[in-house]
Amino acid sequence: MYRTNTCGELRLQDKGKHVTLAGWVQRARKMGGMTFVDLRDRYGITQIVFTDESNAALAEAASKLGREWVIQVEGTVEERTSKNPNLPTGDIEIIASGMTVLNSALTPPFTIEEDTDGGDDLRMRYRYLDLRRPNVRANLELRHKMTMEVRRYLDSKGFLEIETPMLVGSTPEGARDFVVPSRMNPGQFYALPQSPQTLKQLLMVSGMDRYFQIVKCFRDEDLRADRQPEFTQIDCEMSFVEQDDVINLFEGMAKHLFKEIRSVDLEGQFPRMTWADAMKYYGSDKPDTRFDMKFVELDDVLKGHGFSIFDNAAYIGGICAKGAATYTRKQLDQLTDYVKRPQIGAKGMVYARVEADGNVKSSVDKFYSQETLREMAAKMGAEPGDLILILSGDDVMKTRKQLCELRLEMGRQLGLRDKNKFSCLWVVDFPMFEWSDEEQRLMAMHHPFTHPKDEDIPLLDTDPAAVRADAYDMVINGVEVGGGSIRIHDSALQAKMFEILGFTPEKAQEQFGFLMNAFKYGAPPHGGLAYGLDRWVSLFAGLDSIRDCIAFPKNNSGRDVMLDAPAPLDQKQLDELNLSVLPTE
Ligand code: AMO
Repeated sequence: MYRTNTCGELRLQDKGKHVTLAGWVQRARKMGGMTFVDLRDRYGITQIVFTDESNAALAEAASKLGREWVIQVEGTVEERTSKNPNLPTGDIEIIASGMTVLNSALTPPFTIEEDTDGGDDLRMRYRYLDLRRPNVRANLELRHKMTMEVRRYLDSKGFLEIETPMLVGSTPEGARDFVVPSRMNPGQFYALPQSPQTLKQLLMVSGMDRYFQIVKCFRDEDLRADRQPEFTQIDCEMSFVEQDDVINLFEGMAKHLFKEIRSVDLEGQFPRMTWADAMKYYGSDKPDTRFDMKFVELDDVLKGHGFSIFDNAAYIGGICAKGAATYTRKQLDQLTDYVKRPQIGAKGMVYARVEADGNVKSSVDKFYSQETLREMAAKMGAEPGDLILILSGDDVMKTRKQLCELRLEMGRQLGLRDKNKFSCLWVVDFPMFEWSDEEQRLMAMHHPFTHPKDEDIPLLDTDPAAVRADAYDMVINGVEVGGGSIRIHDSALQAKMFEILGFTPEKAQEQFGFLMNAFKYGAPPHGGLAYGLDRWVSLFAGLDSIRDCIAFPKNNSGRDVMLDAPAPLDQKQLDELNLSVLPTE
């Protein structure tokens, strides 16, 4: 037996017990005739004391222990004279009577502590050491707890957990596929699923009624803080449901998670916002509604006064930052530089301060009378002490997105994006299609299996760009934590959808024949949703990147720097797969 107790559980009431602990040496320090060792395992840290007085040889051996050595210690629990209030075990220590070194260790390349001295790259290379840090470990513990709660909730609602294959054909979720060559079928490739979308729909055709899976999905797309090339979905599908049924059930699950994990009671229904309103008032389909600062369109007030930038703009919109009239010229210049960065792309920013007497002082004073400026301030609900920031542009959607970035930055600067405050909503009524400049055709905004709103079906023939979908996203604090839709279950409507998306009947049959044929054998009405587990965990843990809640994540170039993957293949393997690789530059 390696241990009787863990390093996190002993308390004052255990005083006098003879115990055996095993773990890693956090640190060992010699002070006079005593050596103190902080012993760490997953559950905590316990102080071990070795005294020259009781066993000089043992104390000598202990003083030679290095960081991260793995040891087993026997001893008696005693009350500490100088207690450590920062540790749950801080009232006790173990007076050692025996020790076995189970393994020595190289000095780790960074300190294994909450605030480590290791840079990102180094920590990723030695991720197994990084995972020993208590805060990183806590993220994985939280993740475990959340998946357990998800399973508990869905099981209680009658969902069956069913696995689907990883080696599949291409699924059109809008990103590029990761592909796997098939040795047995030379020249042919599997694709890793971007999601089990079509498979879960087939499970509905099979009569499974309620399916879920906590499943890896793979997407070859540009990475961001909330995106990984392989990530985990809580993927769900239900039969005989309408949009409200799906929304209500998964809102229930969100509330369950908030209650069980964060002890937050979310009262009432989550607000629902149409996609059109989300874009109009927040410039984003995932608005951060922890704070207000909604967009106000100012074309009618600010056009026609000789300021050519506004006069020629297709869109003029402003936000009102409460109490921010104290912003200095320097801060405003920095904000202007911020929106002019290439990633955001605004041409400039106009600002106006509302002064104590109600007068409005703006950066474009010479074009506008005080009366017009006051009218603008009134329209924006701006009061003395407030700051108004305005962007304009010749592309409505682009300018709204720029204003969205400015709003989020102002929210950050004004401390309005509190990680411990949660604002949840559903964004609904997404457009069915969006125009792709790259592809020069309409693309499915969600995916091609999404059901159009019944009342918009006639528009499929006349104005497909105006068709709205029975699609919904859940958004929390500006993060899309999940999305889904009611699906098409009629093969004729599905065929029409493929036609609008530019598939010839042959191509549609080749790629999706399996689904359309299945629909001919009695497909129930169905719909579902997938939550992004990594995003949920990072939201609950208050993380800036989903990487921190994934045991072995990829870096921003999609590399696993610990495993050094991806990597070239041996010629032998390439030959077996019937592959040849072109030289890279
Ligand atoms: P969607 O593409 O919206 O829908 O994905 C569902 C949720 O998965 C999360 N997510 C990601 N998380 C981390 N890294 C990524 N690269 C990534 N991409 C997506 C998001 C997102 O809301 N089959 C449909 C679901 C359905 O219709 O039922 C789908 O995959 O939180």
